Amino acid sequence: MLSGKTVLLGITGGIAAYKICELIRKYKRANATVKIVCTPNALNFVTKLTLQTLSKNNVYVNEFDIKDYNPEHISLADEADIMVIAPATANTISKIATGVCDNLLTSIACAYTKPLIIAPAMNCNMWGNPIIQENLHKLHYTILEPEEGFLACGYSGKGRLCSVDKIFEKTVELLNYKPLTGKRIVITSGGTIEEIDPVRYISNYSSGKMGLALADCAKNLGAEVTLITTKDVSKKYNVIKVKSALDMKKAVEKEFDNSDYIIMASAVADYRAKEISSQKMKKTEGDEITLTLIKNPDILKELCKKKKACPPALRPSSPLIVGFCAESENLLENAKEKINKKGCDYLIANDISRKDIGFSSDYNEVFILNKNGETKHIEKADKSTVAYKILEYIVIQRLIS
Ligand code: CTP
Repeated sequence: MLSGKTVLLGITGGIAAYKICELIRKYKRANATVKIVCTPNALNFVTKLTLQTLSKNNVYVNEFDIKDYNPEHISLADEADIMVIAPATANTISKIATGVCDNLLTSIACAYTKPLIIAPAMNCNMWGNPIIQENLHKLHYTILEPEEGFLACGYSGKGRLCSVDKIFEKTVELLNYKPLTGKRIVITSGGTIEEIDPVRYISNYSSGKMGLALADCAKNLGAEVTLITTKDVSKKYNVIKVKSALDMKKAVEKEFDNSDYIIMASAVADYRAKEISSQKMKKTEGDEITLTLIKNPDILKELCKKKKACPPALRPSSPLIVGFCAESENLLENAKEKINKKGCDYLIANDISRKDIGFSSDYNEVFILNKNGETKHIEKADKSTVAYKILEYIVIQRLIS
């Protein structure tokens, strides 16, 4: 993923420094060259030997360990494609904000002109200190704010280093990693609207946010995106607005032959009114009214059937099909049954009974199932992070494997 890229990783003296070992491993697994510069205090929390072994490179600490004519703070800055300072202590943040260059790390930061990520970590009272906040606001870099939680100092509050996954993903994003260049992805989103009469309809609580996050993420990764949605969306990629399940089916089928991936993230109504009244239906004398519903086509299932019906020679170029699965009980059991019934390549299962994730929420937590019954858990995170992880697992892994 990061072949040919050099990450200059700055580590400062906070307890979260131990978590950076995992970040180095992630960069290395993605084939990045990792160069590390530590403040002297960082080495109270992690050893030079650990960092050297993991990065397979020298670890730089002192400004005047110069081996040749090249000043290190300039040559390290020149060689790097991106600089990441994690954890960044209140002290280092304040020094960088005021242009203090009293160690190698702060000197490099001062000389650095390319993308720079700063991931602060500190005690919650330090984080809340207006002076630190003021200094932070002076930094025109990408700041990955700390998270709330239990802190090593015994306090509970905002100050914990954000996840190393988040730092890794931001690094990839800023390095403009576009592994989906040339790939065409069709994504559906939102709940379908099934009309009853000119003023009434049947629909569901789907906000369309997960599909939208997937479309945005796919676009950022270089894909040619078509979003087929029931929501009003204005984007720099192709957006097709639809209303009913039948409209959606027509739109997706039209894109089938022209797509490498189809992701059905929409909540398609299973039934629609048998008859749509052209006039507003009037209230009747009785206390009850009967509305006859008929089954909508199962778009996902039909797409999968169409793919299976492709002559074997053409099958490799037919799209990889991903479904979503909304369940309010027995999530994994139902999801396993559903992937077999639908015949899709992957199914993303999410629990819609939880109020903190899924429908309408900005967060999600999902399981990715494949045809062999294998399951991958994606932890709770904002929908754009979950979208990245889904695409990374399903699309990127396939491309690089
Ligand atoms: N789906 C579809 N057409 C339908 C219903 C669902 O294409 N008529 C797709 C959805 O977009 C989703 C997947 O099928 O990708 C699963 O949808 P879900 O609502 O979880 O399941 P259903 O098939 O509707 O089954 P049930 O409501 O019984 O759980």
